[in-house]
Amino acid sequence: MPTTRTATPADANAIARLHMETLPGDVSDFTPLGAGIVRRFYAQAIARGAATVCVAEENGQVLGFVMITPDIAELFPRALLSGMGDIVAFVFGANPMGLAKAVINKFTSGTATVSRVPELVYLGVSAAARGKGVGALLMRAAHDAFKAQGIATYELNEHADNPHAVKLYLSHGLTIQRRYEKAGHGLYNMRCDLNAPPAEAPPKG
Ligand SMILES: CC(C)(COP(=O)(O)OP(=O)(O)OC[C@H]1O[C@@H](n2cnc3c(N)ncnc32)[C@H](O)[C@@H]1OP(=O)(O)O)[C@@H](O)C(=O)NCCC(=O)NCCS
Repeated sequence: MPTTRTATPADANAIARLHMETLPGDVSDFTPLGAGIVRRFYAQAIARGAATVCVAEENGQVLGFVMITPDIAELFPRALLSGMGDIVAFVFGANPMGLAKAVINKFTSGTATVSRVPELVYLGVSAAARGKGVGALLMRAAHDAFKAQGIATYELNEHADNPHAVKLYLSHGLTIQRRYEKAGHGLYNMRCDLNAPPAEAPPKG
C-alpha cells in the first residue's frame, strides 16, 4: 500500500522527474522551461517554505506528488526569482523557447495577474500507478496539509478536457467557479471549502 509523507528538498529530483513525465507543456507552463528549472523550482519552493509538497511512495519509489501553497502569487517569485543570483540562474537556465512560450501564454490569457489565494498547484501520478487510488491518497494529504496550516479554502485551475483530474477534484469537495481560456484550452477555476459538509451522494436507482 502506498503511503504519503511531506517532501524535503532532497526529494526534488524525484518530484521533478515525475513533473516532467506527468505534466506536459500544455498542462504546465513550467515543463517547457526544462528539467533543470523544474528541479530548482521544487527544491527552492520547499526549502524556502513557499510551498508544501507531499509524495506518495511504495517500496521507496515515489509514485506521485501534490504541491500546495498558501499564496500562489508568492510561490513562483519566492521559489525562483528571490534576488539577483536566482534571476541570473533562471534566465540562463531556462530553455529560451519555453520561456518565451510561458510569457506569451500568461499575457495572452489574461492570467498575468495572479490573485493571492491558497492553491493546489500540481498533482501528478506516474502513468503505471494510475487508477489505483494514489491520486485520492494525495488529495487527502493535501487537505491535511492545508488544515495543518490553518487554511480552510483553496483554489485550483484544471483543464476542462482532463476528465480524470476533474472527477477526482469534484469527488474531493471542489466545485467549478468559472471557465476560461488559456493558450487555446478551456480551463476550470475550482474552489474547495474544507469546512463544508460532504455533498450528499445522489440517490441510487
Ligand atoms: C489526475 C491523476 C492525478 C489521477 O491520479 P490517480 O492515481 O489515477 O487517481 P485515482 O486512482 O485516485 O482515481 C481518481 C478517479 O479517476 C478515475 N480514474 C483514474 N484513472 C483512470 C483511468 N485511467 N481510467 C478510468 N478511470 C480512471 C478513478 O476510477 C477514480 O474515480 P473513482 O473515485 O470514481 O473510482 C492522474 O491521472 C495524473 O497524474 N494525470 C496526469 C497529470 C494531471 O493531469 N494532473 C492534474 C493537473 S495538475
